[in-house]
Amino acid sequence: MKDHTLRIAIVVGTRPEIIKMSPIIRECKRRKQDYFILHTGQHYSYNMDQVFFEQLELPKPKYNLDVGSGTQAEQTGRALIGIEQVLLKEKPDVVLVEGDTNTVLAGALAATKLHIKVGHVEAGLRSYDRTMPEEINRVLTDHISDFCFAPTEQSRQTLLREGIEENKIFVTGNTIVDAVYQNLELARKKANILERLGLKEKEYFLVTVHRPENVDNKDRFQGILSGLQQLEKEYNIPVVYPIHPRSRKKMDEFGLFADNINLVDPQDLFGFLQLEQNAKVVLTDSGGVQEETCILGNPCVTLRDNTERPETIDVGSNVLAGTHPEDIVNAVSMMLHKEREGSNPFGDGQSGKKIVDILEKEIT
Ligand code: UD1
Ligand code: UDP
Repeated sequence: MKDHTLRIAIVVGTRPEIIKMSPIIRECKRRKQDYFILHTGQHYSYNMDQVFFEQLELPKPKYNLDVGSGTQAEQTGRALIGIEQVLLKEKPDVVLVEGDTNTVLAGALAATKLHIKVGHVEAGLRSYDRTMPEEINRVLTDHISDFCFAPTEQSRQTLLREGIEENKIFVTGNTIVDAVYQNLELARKKANILERLGLKEKEYFLVTVHRPENVDNKDRFQGILSGLQQLEKEYNIPVVYPIHPRSRKKMDEFGLFADNINLVDPQDLFGFLQLEQNAKVVLTDSGGVQEETCILGNPCVTLRDNTERPETIDVGSNVLAGTHPEDIVNAVSMMLHKEREGSNPFGDGQSGKKIVDILEKEIT
């Protein structure tokens, strides 16, 4: 029996982790839970990091490890060393990590080796593509976690097939639903991004592309840009691409041009939600954006050959197009002509609350 209240360490490092942990942080704050935020600093540019803390009114991280960018081992290693030091000092009962980044693997590994319990938010996702660093991070993290918070029954089944004990798996929905529901109204009220960019509802395409498999490969990146240019020509409406720093760097390095594509800086969450909701079609290789379009009921074309979010394909909000220009144009046309079911497989927007409830109940 514990002789103190439950102490939770919430580890974040990148844009999507901050956004998807925000409902859990808000819930901990509301309950006056004993918790603290540990930021690895994997993302550090203002518009990839701090803007989300400010806009979502999240408490400042107690620690920022300033891990920054680097190779897979450098980034993961620096995070592992820094997280271990904090955990030794803070002695939390449980460490929460979210998603599939290098920060997630480092957080889970540091904690489990100190015999601190690990909760993996968004467990059981699989692309079955081990060339993706994220797939390796997901598999390893799920297998060293004490609590696997699976967003759907499908992800629960995946974990069971891999031999993870049933009593470690909890289907909670995905906290991205909470984040969308909590912020959509504010986004409508506070963001004026369409005006600022001179866009009209349903008269533009929205794009995000940042996966190494796409942007670190000149041919694939070129294929995507050509497909987007064809779309602009065929539909005669703007293509807006808030460009991730990785993609910007690679575009310069490869000498690629984005003529007729409206490149803008990464947007804050309210602005981006507005852009997503009002786009004619969203084209992406992002995980979170596949989910959000599904929740918002807006069509999505995924510029990849696989997805760890098959639920979005099953409900018809998403389609896989790969990176060939004609395939991209055909996928957009198909999505525009398709009847959509409009259901959201990722839960009821109460995932943050469910996760904290489970921790309170199970760690006694
Ligand atoms: C990381 C995650 C990826 C996630 C993405 C979210 C891993 C292996 N990858 O990819 O799963 O989808 O975050 O956006 O953990 N950079 C900046 N400023 C920043 C951050 C990055 O300029 O704040 C630039 C640097 O040049 C850096 C590059 O972007 O080298 C890539 O950053 P990194 O964190 O290594 O990977 P992401 O591509 O962001
Ligand atoms: N996002 C944002 N501004 C942008 C692009 C994306 O706020 O300019 C948000 C988006 O709403 C989603 C998250 O960032 O919640 C997705 O992050 P990203 O695509 O970087 O990572 P992934 O989900 O692929 O890991």
